[in-house]
Amino acid sequence: MTASIRIDPGSTIGPVPRRLFGTFVEHMGRSVYGGIHDPAAPTADQHGFRADVLELVRELGATAVRYPGGNFVSGYRWEDGVGPVEERPTRLEPAWRGIEPNTVGLHEFAEWADEAGLELVEAVNLGTRGPAEAAELLEYANHPGGTTRSDERRSNGADAPFDIRVWCLGNEMDGPWQIGHKTADEYGRLAAETARLMRFIDPRVELVAAGSSNAEMPTFGVWERTVLRHTAGLVDHVSVHAYYEEQNGDVASFLASAVQLDRYLDDVAAIVDEVALETGTAPVGISVDEWNVWNQTRWNDVDKPRVLGGDFAIQPVIEDDYTVTDAVVVGSLLIALLRHADRVTMANLAQLVNVIAPIRCEPDGPAWRQSTYFPFQATARHARGVVVRPEIAVGRYATARYGEVPIVDAVATMSGDAASVFVVNRSLDEPVPARIELPGRWRLIEAVTLDAPDGADRHLTNRAGDERVRLRPLDGVRVAQAQDAVVEVTLPELSWTMIRLA
Ligand code: AHR
Repeated sequence: MTASIRIDPGSTIGPVPRRLFGTFVEHMGRSVYGGIHDPAAPTADQHGFRADVLELVRELGATAVRYPGGNFVSGYRWEDGVGPVEERPTRLEPAWRGIEPNTVGLHEFAEWADEAGLELVEAVNLGTRGPAEAAELLEYANHPGGTTRSDERRSNGADAPFDIRVWCLGNEMDGPWQIGHKTADEYGRLAAETARLMRFIDPRVELVAAGSSNAEMPTFGVWERTVLRHTAGLVDHVSVHAYYEEQNGDVASFLASAVQLDRYLDDVAAIVDEVALETGTAPVGISVDEWNVWNQTRWNDVDKPRVLGGDFAIQPVIEDDYTVTDAVVVGSLLIALLRHADRVTMANLAQLVNVIAPIRCEPDGPAWRQSTYFPFQATARHARGVVVRPEIAVGRYATARYGEVPIVDAVATMSGDAASVFVVNRSLDEPVPARIELPGRWRLIEAVTLDAPDGADRHLTNRAGDERVRLRPLDGVRVAQAQDAVVEVTLPELSWTMIRLA
């Protein structure tokens, strides 16, 4: 088995969207409290934020952060999180059965995001609240001053507006688990009225309508069509949420998760085009507001009954330990996102710290990188310029969920005189020799791969102080130069690889 990957710089898909490498911080589990914020931790700064976590967030190279939820936002009162900390209320948090002390709110998080180099993307509560509260939050955050809400912000310490551009109109409103769950018509109307009012207050905002929670929702398709008809001309993006896991030991299908993401994005793009034509409005972008590997079966069968059936508490929730396989899937999902650079305007790896996250930390131990950290970091750092769709000739393998899928998948980006090629080998047991052809003269800058380290199996995970699963230099890569450059590389079995040329 060999793979031929031909890169024609003319086959461009579109520029790499800056916001493609977003992340997500939700007030749940140990994401905020006990994650980014823990005044008792040895590395806490004067505001209670962990310096070691912040450092790993910076290194990750993400560009944006969606906040404060997730399911949490559908019951959240944003006013609880502003003003003197000692006067803020402590509330029951029903979505994840947490306790919300409101120690961290808009001001603290905006400052943290700024230090982390992340653009803040704010979600408004359309579960228990509506246009009026969303508008007040927008006025508080973005209006320069001279009104009660904006002056309140100033007296709370932020003289300049936060100037938040992107706003999510609610979260997963199609899901019966959501606080304030709605039908597509109910949500579509509410989103439209909220959008209209928010645009009156700040016409520069970009608004995201909530799409389906996943492609298997019984309302998928009808939901998007209905919501987009209601919000035509009022919103800029529609969201997609996509989580993947290995189900019943079917690793072949799990490794092909990107095939599902490709189809999901194509389906949403087709609906976007259909509604745009019908309503005479511009097609909206797709914001993959939440995507990742998440062991939802374990959450549903084991942890959910325990967490949601127990006492209200700040406790660990969905802290998945990511394996080699998970990291390869995350890398391949990034390939699919890049391949849709013409339609996907934003994407957020969900989440960032502790909760299904690339970064973990212990109360009295160090912050550390999970396996999934590495493909995300490398892609965020080196996918630059425009995305180019390669022509790939390779064998296929059978999957129970998605039929026959290619063993190798790849995408490339090109910027000035630099090129990055991202490749995944989905074979569990066969290294695949690959020939990557590129017109012109190129030399190798770097070749790195993530696979199971020597002697380890695909289930290997990292631990605090022991990052065993990480990128390693890929040896034996040769660049032969004739009229075109030919990169010869052997892709290890079950691996994600990045090759950089200049
Ligand atoms: O990221 C965890 C949860 O997944 C979010 O709260 C919700 O939006 C989704 O179901």
